[in-house]
Amino acid sequence: MARITASVYTSHVPAIGAALDAGKTQEPYWQVVFKGYDFSKQWLKERKPDVVFLVYNDHANAFSLEMIPTFAIGTAAEFNIADEGWGPRPVPKVVGQPELASHIAQSVIQQDFDLTIVNRMDVDHGLTVPLSLMCGQPQAWPCPVIPFAVNVVQYPVPSGRRCLNLGKAIRKAVESYDEDLNVQIWGTGGMSHQLQGPRAGLINREFDNAFLDRLIADPEGQAAVPHIDYVREAGSEGIELVMWLIARGAMADLAGGSPPKVAHRFYHVPASNTAVGHLILENP
Ligand code: DHB
Ligand code: FE
Repeated sequence: MARITASVYTSHVPAIGAALDAGKTQEPYWQVVFKGYDFSKQWLKERKPDVVFLVYNDHANAFSLEMIPTFAIGTAAEFNIADEGWGPRPVPKVVGQPELASHIAQSVIQQDFDLTIVNRMDVDHGLTVPLSLMCGQPQAWPCPVIPFAVNVVQYPVPSGRRCLNLGKAIRKAVESYDEDLNVQIWGTGGMSHQLQGPRAGLINREFDNAFLDRLIADPEGQAAVPHIDYVREAGSEGIELVMWLIARGAMADLAGGSPPKVAHRFYHVPASNTAVGHLILENP
């Protein structure tokens, strides 16, 4: 059967992608950011997954305000890189895994979550920047990716509780797939940041680090935090963090197994307007 071996969490700051694409990774400002991912790149090479289930948010690139799915699963064979206004990032196209994605859609919808099935979708920095941070600049991404887009852009957004429970349903779905596959689930976005209004530039290190602590040790408690607390404490875009609870919900301890091992933890301020957070949790 397929199994979820690990979860990876990371911010998706678009300027990180731009720094990579423009060859600026050795500049002192960026060097410290990329250093936080040296371990992770080696770790990913050594534990190459067969598939990454990548939870992220679209930023009005694939979807507009005309159609706003709360949860959308990418079932296509491939996904092109979105043009976010200055041309698509020069990164490989994303190869999907339609068979597993369709199976997960079937299972999760039958577990009473309403997913939108997406057979054509361009993927933006929300998905490509985490891939770049974890994989560097390869000719092709190391494995197929199932994009899973969550609405955290237009209110109402899903609650932390719903996200954690969705992760549990995704775990069941993966484990009911017949083929022996090593699947990783990634939760991306965040950490604290606000891009507009009088509080633009808001960063909250205390909130971010408490979130990391609780995500690791008390995910059920963190899931009870209402979305307004994220907005108040972590800024209007800090709400992206609820997506991390989807990945956390898919870990073994929430289905009666042992707690995950913290393989890596990194936190840095600033990167563009955003606090960068990163975690790797391994299932025992
Ligand atoms: C920034 C951060 C984001 O998460 C995003 O989607 C866009 C911009 C920023 O820090 O500038
Ligand atoms: Fe974002």
